[in-house]
Amino acid sequence: MTVPAGEAASVRPGAAEWRRPSWRLERVPAGGGVELTALLRDLVEDPAHRRAFAERLANHDSEVWVALPADSDSASRSQPGCTRTSSGAVGLLLAETACARLQILLLAVSARVRGMGVGRALVREAILWAIDADLDAVELEVRESNDRAQALYESLGFVAAALRPRYYPDGDQAVLMAVSLVDLPV
Ligand SMILES: CC(C)(COP(=O)(O)OP(=O)(O)OC[C@H]1O[C@@H](n2cnc3c(N)ncnc32)[C@H](O)[C@@H]1OP(=O)(O)O)[C@@H](O)C(=O)NCCC(=O)NCCS
Repeated sequence: MTVPAGEAASVRPGAAEWRRPSWRLERVPAGGGVELTALLRDLVEDPAHRRAFAERLANHDSEVWVALPADSDSASRSQPGCTRTSSGAVGLLLAETACARLQILLLAVSARVRGMGVGRALVREAILWAIDADLDAVELEVRESNDRAQALYESLGFVAAALRPRYYPDGDQAVLMAVSLVDLPV
């Protein structure tokens, strides 16, 4: 079927439309109100890891951000007796605060939208939150072999602070990376 030129122009997004991010970030209340099981199933392959992260997500001390399609309902807008679902979310960052440091425990982006800025936006959001919360640093452990994630963290100011030999069950080594929030230029 041939689509008349005028009709095609009216359904195709313009340049500004292509550039506009098609997701938004949201901090969600940990431990209640938001169902993240479907998102974890999508993002974390290993069932044991999934269970471990699900327990952490249920922890009220956790800090959780999700990236959602821009046109979806709010993940955190819950009504009494009703659990919101974050299905459709494309990224998740889970962190905990200890000793004035925000520790990122999980960062994952749906394979279908990787390389589109979601991971960077989530980490950036967590750093900004940590600055507002007057924390000293943001840190995380990353597989030594995960060049992609390390490049992302380095682009946001993280530096390698230590090595953790045999950190993962398969014997892989972790790199502890941290970004200091102390004495940031204003
Ligand atoms: C690592 C991960 C979170 C990155 O998220 P993402 O949304 O794809 O990353 P972004 O699009 O925000 O890219 C940010 C930076 O990451 C790096 N990056 C992204 N895609 C890359 C690729 N294919 N190769 C190398 N570096 C890449 C680049 O430094 C990029 O910056 P640039 O766009 O200026 O070049 C995502 O790939 C993922 O979920 N991977 C599986 C889980 C994982 O490894 N989590 C991290 C554990 S610590």
